[in-house]
Parts: sequence; C-alpha cells; structure tokens
Amino acid sequence: MTKLRLFALLLAFAPALGLAASAGPLESSGTDLSDRASLQRGAGLYMNYCAGCHALSLHRYSRIADDLGLSPELVEQNLMPASAKIGENINTGISAGDGNAWFGKAPPDLSLISRAKLGGPDYVYSYMKGFYIDESRPLGWNNTVFPGASMPHVLWEMQGIQRPVYEQGADGQPHVARLELVQPGRLDAKAYDQVARDISAFLQYVAEPAALKRESVGVWVVLFLAFFTFIAYLLKVEYWRDVH
Ligand code: HEC
Repeated sequence: MTKLRLFALLLAFAPALGLAASAGPLESSGTDLSDRASLQRGAGLYMNYCAGCHALSLHRYSRIADDLGLSPELVEQNLMPASAKIGENINTGISAGDGNAWFGKAPPDLSLISRAKLGGPDYVYSYMKGFYIDESRPLGWNNTVFPGASMPHVLWEMQGIQRPVYEQGADGQPHVARLELVQPGRLDAKAYDQVARDISAFLQYVAEPAALKRESVGVWVVLFLAFFTFIAYLLKVEYWRDVH
C-alpha cells in the first residue's frame, strides 16, 4: 500500500480510531430524533438559554413549529423574542462586534454545529456537561472538550458548579482527570443529562431537518422492499412451475 493510500485510509477512519482533533473523550449523548418530546424540550431550552447569543440563521421559527408539531401561537408566545415574526430566520440580538468585545470571541451561528463537529450530538452533549470553574479564564469558566472556550456556563444553575481534579499526564503536565460537583444545581445529575441530551437532539435536528423525515420514510421503504421480495418470490415459484 502506498503511503498516500495509507494516509487516506487513516483519515477516513480517524473518528473511529479516536484520532479526532477534539480535546477530551466524548460521552455518548443517546439522542433520539424520533423522540418528539425531547426535541420540543430542546427547542424550548435553546430559545431560552442559547438564542440570546447564538443565531440559527439557516432556520425559520415557522419551520421549527411545523417540524416539531408546535402551534405557531405557542412558538410566538414562548419561543420567540417579541420583536420577531414567525416567518423570520432565527437571529440573535448580539452582533459579532459585541460578541468579540464581551466574550473575546463572537458566539458562532449554531445552524450546522452538530454536523461541523466530530462526534456531532455527542460533542454538543459533552460540551454542555464539560464546564468547570477556572479562575485563570476571563469569565471564570473552562471546558473539558473545548479547552479555553470563551463561553460562560449558561446552565450552571441547573447543573451546579464543577471543579476539575487534576492528574499528571504522560507529558509531565497536569491534565483534568475528571470533574467533581462542588455546588449542586437545581437538577440532579440524571435530570441535567436529559437537559443536555434534549439540547443536543434539537441541534442535531436543526443541522439536518430532513433526517426527521428520512427516518420515518425509511421504515416504509424497508417494509416495501420486504413485501416486494415476497411478490418476486411468488413470481419465481410460478415461472419455475411451468419450466418443471
Ligand atoms: C452569553 C452568550 C452565550 C450563551 C447564552 C451561549 N453561548 Fe455558546 N458560545 C458563546 C461564545 C462566546 C462561544 C465561542 C467560544 C469560543 O470559540 O471560544 C460559544 C460557542 C458555542 C459552541 C461551539 C463550541 C466549539 O467547539 O466551537 C457551542 C456548541 C455552543 N456555544 C452551544 C451553546 C448552547 C447549546 C447554548 C445554550 C445552552 C449556548 N451555547 C449559550 C456564548 C454563548
């Protein structure tokens, strides 16, 4: 095998081999796109806790209402800023300049984040669970899967506050071995996991809305193929009867 081929092969299997560029190991999110209640909760959490900083500019409020089975009135009253219209794209009040000034980094548009990141929903899930206090950071927060992230932990009230437990790595430098809860939040660990899962599922849907349809159509396609195989079999039996 030439070196080039070996390289291409390695690249193709990089995520499976854990050679991804992400910093920490990711936890499995366990998202389920057929769980509509989870997606609806995720939409609610997103609009209340994330949309203030992060736009979903490739999406309209109306599309979310349609896809997730929410009435336009409900979306208008609970999931949108009063100034927005249901047919508009989901934008945020923060300009890139403000973001840079306030956080040192403009909050990115999250329309495609779940597809852009290796691990997809697992990345978002682990990121939501990976915040810990770090006085050396400008806003006092750091993150295990995205070291040096400029985002504050916006869900700390729910999760509580985590502190890192360090361990000496092979390179002689201290590494975050695990996080421990030093101040409990409003939710217990299981309930917070579900919050992180709902948000991850919502962003997974947002990054590929067609996936909702594809999965439900897929069942019918498989059923059709099974049925058609049966018909083809009957046909074969019928033809061969004459041949014999
Ligand atoms: C107060 C503003 C603010 C809020 C609210 C906020 N974020 Fe962020 N977020 C940021 C900033 C700033 C960054 C850029 C971090 C960086 O690149 O250092 C960021 C980055 C991200 C990223 C990209 C991380 C990466 O690896 O590039 C994700 C995913 C994300 N935020 C998810 C969320 C979710 C989900 C919520 C709601 C639960 C949320 N954010 C709420 C400010 C915010």
